Amino acid sequence: MSDGKLLNFVKGFSLLLEEKPSEEIIFTRGKKLLETLISADDWLPEEFTKPHPQYYQQYLLFADPLDRFSIVSFVWGPGQKTPVHNHTVWGMIGQLRGEEKGTPYYFQADGSLKAGMGSVSPPGHVDTVSPNTHDIHVVENTLTDKTSISIHVYGGNIARIHRSVFDPLTGAEKSFISGYANTVVPNLWNPA
Ligand SMILES: [Fe+2]
Repeated sequence: MSDGKLLNFVKGFSLLLEEKPSEEIIFTRGKKLLETLISADDWLPEEFTKPHPQYYQQYLLFADPLDRFSIVSFVWGPGQKTPVHNHTVWGMIGQLRGEEKGTPYYFQADGSLKAGMGSVSPPGHVDTVSPNTHDIHVVENTLTDKTSISIHVYGGNIARIHRSVFDPLTGAEKSFISGYANTVVPNLWNPA
């Protein structure tokens, strides 16, 4: 019996982290692993695909016990979007289903935040965030009639990290911890 796709990703990514890779390596070799995981939309259990009528959902799929990385299914109802927010750790956003737009924001001399060039992700595409270069952004479901789902991988247990949302006009920062929507996680060892 072959291992499931999510288990294969967890194994491959864990082995990569054993090499204590630079962020550049994570965004090349790690990104390739995520691209493989999202190359087919046939493995995510239905429980982790459900949108909420009001809020985008964050379902934990796997968290490394040493908090080196986490894998989260983000599920967006039609038109749902995030506030302007940061991550404080590296992140990769792999589009599994539907279509999302990511827009980076940059601090200006007057303390406000200005939107940069947004990019639209079709299924199979991986976007990145990094506190070293581009940590602040907005993500939105560009589809007005369908759910979009992206698989995010972060360099920590993202829902336990103190992060910030920002008022783009003033740059005012508010701390938050996101938490996860689910109380159980997938069985990686179930036959796929
Ligand atoms: Fe984000």
